[in-house]
Amino acid sequence: MRLLILGGTQFLGRAIAAHAHAMGHDVTCAARGVAGTVPYGARFIRVDRDEPDGLAPLAGKEFDAVVDVSRHPGQVRRAVAALKQGVEHWTFVSTVSVYADNRTTGQRADAAPHAAHSRLTGYFDGIGPSSTRGQLLAECADAVGASCTFTWVDRAFLESHDIRRWSGPRSLPLWLPLPDYAGFATRDTSPARDSGLTVRTLAETARDTLSWARTAGGPVTGLTADEESAALKAWHASRHGRRSIG
Ligand SMILES: NC(=O)c1ccc[n+]([C@@H]2O[C@H](COP(=O)([O-])OP(=O)(O)OC[C@H]3O[C@@H](n4cnc5c(N)ncnc54)[C@H](OP(=O)(O)O)[C@@H]3O)[C@@H](O)[C@H]2O)c1
Repeated sequence: MRLLILGGTQFLGRAIAAHAHAMGHDVTCAARGVAGTVPYGARFIRVDRDEPDGLAPLAGKEFDAVVDVSRHPGQVRRAVAALKQGVEHWTFVSTVSVYADNRTTGQRADAAPHAAHSRLTGYFDGIGPSSTRGQLLAECADAVGASCTFTWVDRAFLESHDIRRWSGPRSLPLWLPLPDYAGFATRDTSPARDSGLTVRTLAETARDTLSWARTAGGPVTGLTADEESAALKAWHASRHGRRSIG
């Protein structure tokens, strides 16, 4: 299969390109070449999807399938307009952040390796099963042999100490407050599973991520060790203060 990956120089797109090449497909990756290199065996074509005519290097080329991992709607619109004539099948990988409503629990994506090969079409959430934060942390600690204890702090404390949600600097990774995000981690993923999606175990992900972080040196964002330690100190001091007062 002649496969075009729009992206392919980092993270998901690069992994798809490597996997497709290993399966024997003819793989072309189109990107700016800023984020990194394409994997072994893939052809690289330099494009810039932010420029009006930035996809011109792909003009007239034909592909059996395209995989697009862009997170920018304008880039996706321009790519579909420019390439749809020469393409039979299009797989678009987006993000669970596209849901307009994050409060309602159990939503599914119809209101992955991937899909283009079997001509699978539809809307799928390619995500793993839900678990509680406690389960997630305990499984990660167990998988990497860490002996740690967990301290549960409340939302008011986090917000009053400028500890931020989800990801990025000063964040407590993966924390999203309720009820605004009650639905975020509870999407109904059965359509994806019924269509063949399999997920690796959390333990495997934890071990691989730690190994990547140690060899690649990051980037890892979130609370630094010093920020975490200061926050824990403040939390314990506030608890102690309350007991004394009470
Ligand atoms: N990463 C996550 O944790 C995560 C989590 C949930 C969902 N998702 C979703 O999964 C999808 C894929 O994520 P990802 O992290 O693999 O994608 P990504 O890291 O955003 O990669 C985007 C690719 O597009 C290329 N690119 C960026 N700007 C470009 C431009 N102007 N012209 C041409 N190419 C350009 C980049 O290469 P160059 O910079 O070399 O051009 C890169 O290869 C996204 O839709 C994302 O929202 C990601």
